[in-house]
Amino acid sequence: MVSETVSERSAVQPGADVLVASNRGPVSYTVAEGGALTAKRGGGGLVSGLSAIGPDTDAVWVCAALGEGDREAVRRTGGLLDVAETGGQRVRMLDIPADVHAAAYNGIANSVLWFVHHMLYQTPLEPVFDTEFRAQWASYEAYNTAFAEALAAAAAPGAAVLVQDYHLALVPGMLRESRPDLRIAHFSHTPWAPAEYFAMLPDDIQQKLVTGLLGADHANFLTQRWARAFMGCCQQTLGNDCEALWPRDEEPYLRTFPPGLTARRTSIGVYGLGADAEFLRERAFRPDVEERLAALREQIGGPDRKTIVRVDRTELSKNIVRGLLAYRRLLADRPQWRERVVHLAFAYPSRQDLAVYREYTAQVGRLAEEINAAYGTEGWQPVVLHVKDDFARSLAAYRLADVALVNPIRDGMNLVAKEVPVVSERGCALVLSREAGAYQELGEDALCVNPYDVTATAQALHEALSMDDAERSARTQRLAAAATALPPARWFLDQLRALKA
Ligand code: G6P
Repeated sequence: MVSETVSERSAVQPGADVLVASNRGPVSYTVAEGGALTAKRGGGGLVSGLSAIGPDTDAVWVCAALGEGDREAVRRTGGLLDVAETGGQRVRMLDIPADVHAAAYNGIANSVLWFVHHMLYQTPLEPVFDTEFRAQWASYEAYNTAFAEALAAAAAPGAAVLVQDYHLALVPGMLRESRPDLRIAHFSHTPWAPAEYFAMLPDDIQQKLVTGLLGADHANFLTQRWARAFMGCCQQTLGNDCEALWPRDEEPYLRTFPPGLTARRTSIGVYGLGADAEFLRERAFRPDVEERLAALREQIGGPDRKTIVRVDRTELSKNIVRGLLAYRRLLADRPQWRERVVHLAFAYPSRQDLAVYREYTAQVGRLAEEINAAYGTEGWQPVVLHVKDDFARSLAAYRLADVALVNPIRDGMNLVAKEVPVVSERGCALVLSREAGAYQELGEDALCVNPYDVTATAQALHEALSMDDAERSARTQRLAAAATALPPARWFLDQLRALKA
């Protein structure tokens, strides 16, 4: 499947003690016109988590080549990337054939698994599981096999392997078969579907997904809610072959009885990834952020205007359209806010290979324009929409935020909800969907909303804008403390420690 031979693979990295596997790696490449490759390092919890193990370990990160630049980097390096370009991290990039990757990533991971776990289908017409789905599923299996083979080839005896997300749901089971000596964890960064919704998938696919994950010693989730949903799906799918146990002082676990094999045990862990306060507080005051801050202040206009800030990748689950509808309702029903508030909405493009994402992105743009046309005045633009990803500008908006709007339909955690309270200068009121994982930790000090209820969201925006300074600042302090309880490095190391125990 992978465009490399087994001998090439095993020659590269025999014997890592810690391995991480994820579809998107910590670095991506672009090819410039003369053929030079430029590497761009990504951020995020996993990157800072893994860097916490320190430079002395031989940890390897296995990821997929995502674009032409990445594929070229694999061709030039044989797959083990230059550490100078990865920030010292040893990264093994897999050149899985582009059509196989596209069918697995766009077809199954983004269009089926993402939809199931976020409950996004418009069920009168979708999903349709037919021959096209089966072909894509075969690619998903091939893509998972490529990861399992690469990990098996690179892992030292008894190594710890930490597999990430729905892209790689089959890897733990595959790895368990080929390398029973390994300690395997899987982490779901998304919600997990309730059993009734999961049951929409064809029976054999349900079975493969849960047994794939149950190949892990530890199946880890962001919240209790998603962990319990997973346990419910396992019991529904496997029936008498699966037993859930809840020991008093230990993590719950599932005992499964694979036909012809001895019973297996999978611990179910909850690790609520938090914001990286130290990093954010330093990064948010660098000159590039100050520059963006000045530019945003200009766009906002009047010094006394309040801001409602949202920052999202434009994913269907983020509910950006209903957020704009709620803001429009606020302006319609409560004219006292006209000219006195600006909605900074940052909606960064995501998964634009998929038509439904492109259409959604376009709808966000149209609605923002409509609101500006209906309510804008000469000196006031009610919605300032930015669609070009710019981390420094996001931080500038966090600093300015009087209100943060985080209203996803469903979300594994939502780190924006955790980051804004840490960075906001004057304290911010958080309007938070009860369907975000972050609600479990931040619910008490946020203004919580049903994400489908536009009227209630408009009311919550009004309350958030009206909150007095003392209350807002007290709430922000508590939100920031809860949001930083488990910073990325500890989130990662805790899982590693549990896995090795
Ligand atoms: C979101 C999810 C992660 C997922 C990622 C993939 O951030 O929370 O669980 O891994 O999307 O995004 P990508 O851009 O690689 O499709």
